[in-house]
Amino acid sequence: MARNQKDHYYRLAKKEGYRARSAYKLLQINEKFHLIRKGDSVVDLGAAPGGWLQVAKELSGGTVVGVDLEKIAPIPGVLTFKADITENETLDLIKGAIGDHADVVICDAAPNLSGAWDVDHSRSIDLARSALRVARMVLKPGGNFLVKVFQGDTFLDYLAEVRREFEKSQAHSPAASRKESAETYIIGKKLICGPVKMGDVYELQIESLGRSGDGIALIDGFAVFVKGAKLGEKIRVKIEAVKHNFAFGKPIDGKH
Ligand SMILES: C[S@@+](CC[C@H](N)C(=O)[O-])C[C@H]1O[C@@H](n2cnc3c(N)ncnc32)[C@H](O)[C@@H]1O
Repeated sequence: MARNQKDHYYRLAKKEGYRARSAYKLLQINEKFHLIRKGDSVVDLGAAPGGWLQVAKELSGGTVVGVDLEKIAPIPGVLTFKADITENETLDLIKGAIGDHADVVICDAAPNLSGAWDVDHSRSIDLARSALRVARMVLKPGGNFLVKVFQGDTFLDYLAEVRREFEKSQAHSPAASRKESAETYIIGKKLICGPVKMGDVYELQIESLGRSGDGIALIDGFAVFVKGAKLGEKIRVKIEAVKHNFAFGKPIDGKH
């Protein structure tokens, strides 16, 4: 079954002119989650030989930048760098090419496999952390993120890190991933750029009321809505939901 599946996407990639069978993983993920849209600018980390770059260019038609340790053969309209995504200088290269207003960062980077499950997992998490760092630095507010991770002990810790940065996050394995593979993909939609994070606790003063009567407090200009809070009230809240441009806080003194 796995062999047939491999053969299917391998042959399809040859027939349809994609450089790697992994192109279908991105196509399937995008079909379901709509991460890349027409006109988007996209950064692809760990991009060689370039299957995802081909798909990203087709889907967006916008600026597409690829980075890999290996040289990537040219793709029309795509800018590529031979560089290490874990290095700070690489961030400068990417920023130089795309600024800090990328719409989407995708990462299919994989370490050289040692065969030892825990070693490969922790190397994969290191790469995924580098990808998340790049995403935070180059994505515009509300931008989207996709990253490959090998399953293992610290998978849920990493998923929690992504959850703090994006409005919606989840893990997903596309049909084109081999059944026996340890890989899965994490999708983060809508980067949160405000100063507050899920679970943070603040002492706030309600400065105004929203249309539905919720109290509104500001943290560095970022609005936090507190249901039932009154104008002028000083209140202790825990942040229970964060959108990319506002948040909801729940009173934790039991008064509401
Ligand atoms: C599975 S391949 C990517 C396939 C690609 N998505 C495609 O469709 O053609 C994983 C890539 O990650 C790259 N990689 C691994 N570690 C890296 C690092 N530190 N910096 C940049 N690229 C890295 C490898 O060189 C390899 O080309």
